[in-house]
Amino acid sequence: PLVSMTEMLRTAKANNYAVGQYNLNNLEFTQAILQAAEEEQSPVICGVSEGAAKYMGGFPAVVSLVKSLMDAYNVTVPVAIHLDHGSSFDKCVQAIHAGFTSVMIDGSHDPLEENIALTKRVVEVAHAAGVSVEAELGRIGGQEDDIVVDDAEAAYAIPEECERLIRETGVDCFAPALGSVHGPYKGEPNLGFNRMEEINNLVGNVPLVLHGGTGLPVEDVKKAIRYGHAKVNVNTESQIAATEKIKEVFEEQPNQYDPRKYLGPAREAIKETVKGKMRDFGSSNQA
Ligand code: G3H
Ligand code: ZN
Repeated sequence: PLVSMTEMLRTAKANNYAVGQYNLNNLEFTQAILQAAEEEQSPVICGVSEGAAKYMGGFPAVVSLVKSLMDAYNVTVPVAIHLDHGSSFDKCVQAIHAGFTSVMIDGSHDPLEENIALTKRVVEVAHAAGVSVEAELGRIGGQEDDIVVDDAEAAYAIPEECERLIRETGVDCFAPALGSVHGPYKGEPNLGFNRMEEINNLVGNVPLVLHGGTGLPVEDVKKAIRYGHAKVNVNTESQIAATEKIKEVFEEQPNQYDPRKYLGPAREAIKETVKGKMRDFGSSNQA
């Protein structure tokens, strides 16, 4: 069934595993992610950035596609459709109207007071519609879509601010930036585990979200799960798997022109990547 993230993440945190958010980019990603979830019997979050939604035909088109494929594949596991890095109140409202079951409002570039005020407004409309909300504090480095944060700008979340944001806004989960990066890591990833533990102790049972899941050693992810993370976002790793597979096909068959002959194998590669993450995160057989 199509559900919000609220219950799946509370359950995940209480049981020490994380649900993956896997980003949709096109039809094949959507198929692969839903099939992976059903085969693994794992709850799943379909992440949709504003850029990806635009590419796929808009928020309503994304919702229709996910629903149709869930029917086509007889999907029984819990599925959330989540706006990734929502840039404004209006975008969140549009996503909610289209049938998204969850939204992220990314006010991390605003001063704390403004981030809290914006997040609060989104929570009011979202909760009235049964939709869950994710917020962010600090700044996650790297690039995703149009959001670019250079090394100097990247900043750790401050524990007291996290506690205050959660208390004043009533968000369902939130992402404290702690050194993770969107896209490939330059050098070894270096997550702020001390700060993470401190934040987790302050926020009680509110699930934390780890962005930039691509390229993190599985031991780091497991440690982050022990320190309260119940959602891990993965996009780039599936994109790389798909693209490598397509390159392979063209190396062997340079004259191939049937899209199904290269997008089909790419879809398989995405599915295998996602299934591997579900096992790593411990969400397999938790549906
Ligand atoms: O919001 C999406 C994620 O944080 C994706 O990060 O592309 O590095 O896996 P990633
Ligand atoms: Zn992100």
